[in-house]
Amino acid sequence: MKKTSFICFLSFAMLILPGTWSSAEVQPVPLSEEDCSKCHENAVKDLKEHGGLHTDISCLDCHAEHPPLGKNTISECELCHDSSESEHYAVQECKACHPPHRPKEMDFSKMDPVKPACLSCHPEPGKTMEAYPSEHAGFDCKECHTGHRQATACLDCHDAHTKEMTDKNCQGCHKPHGPKEITYGDDIPSGFCSCCHEEIGAALSQSKMAHHEMNCVECHQSEHKAASQCAECHDEKPHGTYMHEKYPNCLDCHKDPHALAE
Ligand code: HEC
Ligand code: HEC
Ligand code: HEC
Ligand code: HEC
Ligand code: HEC
Ligand code: HEC
Ligand code: HEC
Ligand code: HEC
Ligand code: HEC
Ligand code: HEC
Ligand code: HEC
Ligand code: HEC
Repeated sequence: MKKTSFICFLSFAMLILPGTWSSAEVQPVPLSEEDCSKCHENAVKDLKEHGGLHTDISCLDCHAEHPPLGKNTISECELCHDSSESEHYAVQECKACHPPHRPKEMDFSKMDPVKPACLSCHPEPGKTMEAYPSEHAGFDCKECHTGHRQATACLDCHDAHTKEMTDKNCQGCHKPHGPKEITYGDDIPSGFCSCCHEEIGAALSQSKMAHHEMNCVECHQSEHKAASQCAECHDEKPHGTYMHEKYPNCLDCHKDPHALAE
């Protein structure tokens, strides 16, 4: 807020309907805030009921003069929201998002693109999009955020990999702003991997060996395509030096981690 006082004097404002006033007969009467409702009932009602913090501002602070005599009929937002005070106050087209009499009732659909305004308060998603390029990085934010603090479900635009997956599961592996970078926790059920890796899923579940009890993510931790080495869980040389020198690879004998030789 600029610390200026917004009290204004409509010294030459007029209280007339067009065509009824002649300077020779009537002295202009300054308009007061009470007058506005006589002719602009809707605006007064709007501000009172939906104005948020603008409710406390006088009509005259934003409408210092009145047509046809006044030219300064509508103040710029900048008058009170100084662009040097916040990156957000330096974006364009404030009114496209904030109807001035209902500043909290934002409508992103009227603004194209909304991205610069969003990034003025949320720089992080922009950085993620740059760091992890994907098709999503080319979208305007409002493709997915049609309202503030709202997000469109992934399943509105995509199919799930398997019908056991709900929308909540998607972010277990994909970041919305960088979906190609696939990372996950240790709570991913094996079915979410086997839906794409069917043969391996089947091999593991049919195996009679001990690995059969394990989830995929116990050996494939955190990041898609990563795999643990046998030695992370077993002795590096469980069978005696000679054998390991002759057969350096555990899988020479044990064949397949998903279907260990019996
Ligand atoms: C006697 C009726 C009357 C009163 C009282 C009145 N207005 Fe108006 N107002 C009008 C009319 C008629 C117009 C349309 C004038 C035009 O388009 O040239 C108008 C237009 C406006 C506009 C649009 C200006 C623009 O440039 O588009 C604003 C803002 C406005 N009034 C604000 C106010 C405020 C604030 C008050 C109270 C301080 C007020 N009016 C009091 C009749 C009135
Ligand atoms: C925070 C600033 C602000 C306040 C407070 C404010 N207005 Fe406005 N008003 C505006 C702006 C900006 C516009 C122009 C909207 C546009 O261009 O879409 C506007 C437009 C208008 C208009 C013309 C368009 C319309 O919506 O009919 C009228 C009339 C008006 N205001 C009356 C009022 C009255 C009466 C009050 C007090 C109850 C008031 N305004 C309070 C900023 C304000
Ligand atoms: C006459 C001064 C004045 C003008 C002009 C003005 N505002 Fe404000 N606005 C305020 C004040 C005072 C507040 C409350 C304190 C703050 O946030 O700075 C406020 C708050 C807001 C809020 C938060 C509302 C809430 O309820 O949380 C929004 C959004 C906003 N203004 C947008 C605008 C836009 C957009 C314009 C231009 C169309 C505008 N303002 C013009 C004075 C003004
Ligand atoms: C793309 C839409 C968009 C545009 C354009 C936009 N805003 Fe905002 N504005 C928002 C959103 C979203 C919020 C956050 C509201 C919340 O926290 O609920 C916000 C909050 C605000 C607030 C209250 C919080 C604060 O930081 O003070 C003010 C004041 C404000 N905007 C003023 C402006 C001004 C002035 C402009 C133009 C220079 C503008 N806005 C342009 C979307 C927009
Ligand atoms: C004026 C600053 C401001 C602007 C502009 C703004 N936001 Fe916000 N946004 C906030 C604040 C403050 C919160 C609540 C903070 C929190 O919950 O961590 C928030 C919360 C959110 C959330 C929910 C966060 C959560 O953790 O659930 C989303 C999503 C969001 N904003 C998206 C957007 C989008 C998209 C835009 C542009 C259309 C935008 N915001 C513009 C200030 C802003
Ligand atoms: C508004 C529609 C929409 C929403 C919502 C959406 N996406 Fe997308 N997404 C697309 C489009 C369009 C593409 C590009 C074409 C394609 O690959 O289908 C895409 C691409 C992708 C890609 C491939 C990225 C690339 O660069 O190849 C992944 C992964 C993805 N989305 C995951 C998700 C996830 C997870 C969510 C929810 C967090 C989600 N999407 C939400 C529309 C959407
Ligand atoms: C493909 C859809 C999509 C696009 C495009 C998108 N988002 Fe998001 N965003 C989401 C989803 C989904 C969430 C997670 C919401 C949840 O879990 O509630 C999210 C979360 C957020 C959050 C809160 C959590 C966080 O990660 O900080 C913010 C802020 C946010 N988005 C801002 C933006 C901004 C700014 C843009 C544009 C630069 C943008 N988003 C573009 C889908 C998207
Ligand atoms: C267990 C981790 C995981 C979960 C959970 C997951 N995905 Fe994926 N998703 C992947 C992997 C891995 C790829 C990459 C495949 C590739 O490289 O081709 C992928 C690729 C995608 C793609 C790119 C196109 C394609 O089909 O290959 C989209 C779109 C996608 N996922 C959407 C979703 C949606 C929507 C959800 C939630 C219903 C979801 N994903 C849940 C791991 C997951
Ligand atoms: C959406 C399908 C999809 C999902 C879900 C998926 N993957 Fe993959 N995965 C792929 C594709 C496609 C490749 C690449 C295959 C290639 O390069 O031949 C791949 C590659 C891999 C590789 C590396 C293959 C190599 O040649 O190095 C491993 C390991 C892997 N996935 C494990 C997993 C695990 C564990 C999960 C569950 C957390 C999972 N995948 C979920 C599609 C998927
Ligand atoms: C006991 C540990 C372990 C478990 C459990 C496990 N894997 Fe593996 N997986 C590995 C190791 C080790 C490799 C690397 C093998 C190599 O280097 O030849 C591998 C390789 C892979 C590959 C890439 C090589 C190939 O054969 O195509 C995929 C895909 C894969 N695993 C998927 C899965 C899936 C899906 C599951 C769960 C159904 C799973 N894994 C369970 C240890 C395991
Ligand atoms: C994430 C840990 C982990 C990794 C990585 C891992 N294993 Fe295992 N493995 C186990 C556990 C747990 C068992 C069952 C308890 C035990 O025997 O120690 C097991 C059992 C075995 C058994 C005995 C099977 C049975 O049914 O008695 C063999 C053989 C084996 N692992 C070989 C390997 C080989 C070869 C690799 C590398 C390709 C490997 N393991 C990678 C955890 C792992
Ligand atoms: C030359 C073949 C061969 C190689 C190479 C080999 N193993 Fe084995 N391993 C066997 C045989 C045969 C058994 C079963 C012996 C038994 O039941 O006593 C076995 C049993 C095991 C067992 C289960 C019994 C136990 O000792 O706990 C584990 C675990 C194991 N191997 C891990 C490994 C690892 C890790 C490597 C690689 C560093 C490896 N093996 C390399 C042949 C081999």
